[in-house]
Amino acid sequence: MCGIVGYLGPKGAYDILIQGLKRLEYRGYDSAGVAIVDGDGKLHVHKSRGKVANLEQVANAGCTAGSLGIAHTRWATHGEPNDVNAHPHVSQSGMIALVHNGTIENYAVLKKVLKDHGYEFKSETDTEVLVQLIEYIKLTSSCSLPEAVRQALLQVEGAYAIAVVEQNDPDTMIVARKSSPLVIGVGEDEVFIASDATPFVGYTDKVIYLQDNEIGVIRRNQPLQLISLHNNEPSAISIQKLQLSLAQLEKGGYDTFMLKEIFEQPSTLRDCLRGRIVDDCTRVVLSGVELNKERFMNAERITLVACGTSWHAALIGKRLIQDFCQIPVEVEYASEFRYGNPVLNNKDIVISISQSGETADTLAAIQLAREKGAFVYGICNVVGASIPRNTDSGTYIHVGPEIGVASTKAFTGQVTVLTLLALSIGQLRGTVDKETLHNILSALDKMPEIIKEALNVDPEVKKLSRVFSYAHNFLYLGRGYNYPTALEGALKLKEISYIHAEGYPAAEMKHGPIALIDHEMPSVIIAPSDSLYDKIISNVQQVKSRGGAVVAIVSRGNTAMTDIADFCIEIPEVPECLTPIVASIPLQLLAYYIAVNKGKNVDQPRNLAKSVTVE
Ligand code: M6R
Repeated sequence: MCGIVGYLGPKGAYDILIQGLKRLEYRGYDSAGVAIVDGDGKLHVHKSRGKVANLEQVANAGCTAGSLGIAHTRWATHGEPNDVNAHPHVSQSGMIALVHNGTIENYAVLKKVLKDHGYEFKSETDTEVLVQLIEYIKLTSSCSLPEAVRQALLQVEGAYAIAVVEQNDPDTMIVARKSSPLVIGVGEDEVFIASDATPFVGYTDKVIYLQDNEIGVIRRNQPLQLISLHNNEPSAISIQKLQLSLAQLEKGGYDTFMLKEIFEQPSTLRDCLRGRIVDDCTRVVLSGVELNKERFMNAERITLVACGTSWHAALIGKRLIQDFCQIPVEVEYASEFRYGNPVLNNKDIVISISQSGETADTLAAIQLAREKGAFVYGICNVVGASIPRNTDSGTYIHVGPEIGVASTKAFTGQVTVLTLLALSIGQLRGTVDKETLHNILSALDKMPEIIKEALNVDPEVKKLSRVFSYAHNFLYLGRGYNYPTALEGALKLKEISYIHAEGYPAAEMKHGPIALIDHEMPSVIIAPSDSLYDKIISNVQQVKSRGGAVVAIVSRGNTAMTDIADFCIEIPEVPECLTPIVASIPLQLLAYYIAVNKGKNVDQPRNLAKSVTVE
């Protein structure tokens, strides 16, 4: 949801900023822009609607020299995605330039005050209000830029990560954050700033995660200063080591990040499981549970909060926790939970699930849960993101950077961690028997090889995808553990191919959606050999008798579906609770190839962003 990047050092800023923007483009690609302060102190601003590639064409024509700069890639919130609304925004005098990720909620009030003081606005954005306010304060109080930024931010309600530069000062950049992420990369004689650490990879592995309500004053050849927004006092600097490699940020020979990430799953699941299954698959170790045994022993209820794909993982988590821990579980959309007046106390555990760790609704939900006394546990992928920093404890899924906007390896990582978590709590509370624990842990331990085998369906699914060029609608059906898998399969298809797809519990279909079925509406049925297999067969027959084509995902060697379904895709057989992980593989591939056949940009689907940091 918008990415910002900045550079101050001895090198030319432009190339570093453009490369950084490309790494952050997953956060939004409605427009892009760059502001450079050259050695003579002149400010050059270039911006363009659309992707970073468009910006490069515009900017290459102008002056891009200078070793201080800030840049932005936008996911539009206020105002349509055009050149004028693109960041950086510049103050009325043309002296100050600013990039912003977040939302200024009281921008309308501030704008009115500034207009009364003679300020004119070019764009429809909330961000332009902030840069004008900074200039107004600087001019009227004759203070320094850092102090003007601080005073302006004291008046702002909302979320922000900002970077600010000023004409005539090629040696200073000011950054600040509240609720939106901002990381500072510290090199030998250079400093980088960005919404996440990916733009610094290859330059430095020393990073500082700016805290909420902190302002960073970065001056050439001077030590970095962090100050508190509220009392203007210096705050302590904690430098951490970044664990990211360049290879993780590249396509590695694949056409797209999404395909790379689908095929990476054997190794990402290995990383996710590493060190967590011990003693010959008889015990699971999650430090987040081990360190909080009492909380998990005394828990009376668990509530899972998440959005999108992570919410689908939460639905599977509910079933896992109920099966292995016998604790009542609720699953809530974070966006509903935060305004739903939830009744919580200190016997409640709230588990948030988020790939990015920056989703605004999920962050707000956990903040509310903590205020109400619940113990908050986070399941996250991005190390050091806001959600893990705002939870009491948690588990990383460790699947590496997920760059394709459609989540694939993060989903299987989340379900894997939820399985480990449920087994770990069950082990602690004595609600899972030793044999079950051993069987599931043994199968989980082999999951990297099982997923490798599941990926062998790739050519078959690719061929099958061409059959459905006629379809404008799809139905995805599953039961039990695989009802959420059906929801996830449908979400994958709609977000990258723009084909309408509905996920439904298979047995509910007869209560309404069956009316939609005709020869133009294919159904994808997730039907591995599980406790509901016989039941789902009759659901499939109901679809077939109404003329709809059926693709069934079945366990290898199970032939009962072969005569009924039009196409069967086989997956390796695993214990029932692990079927969602394996069944997701052909669903990811099917969505992928249907979208590619339609010529869509699968890594950057329209209107979406990877990290949704606005409400
Ligand atoms: O980073 P998060 O897991 O919190 O993101 C939640 C959703 O925005 C995300 O899962 C979204 O639905 C994906 N595009 C799905 O592929």
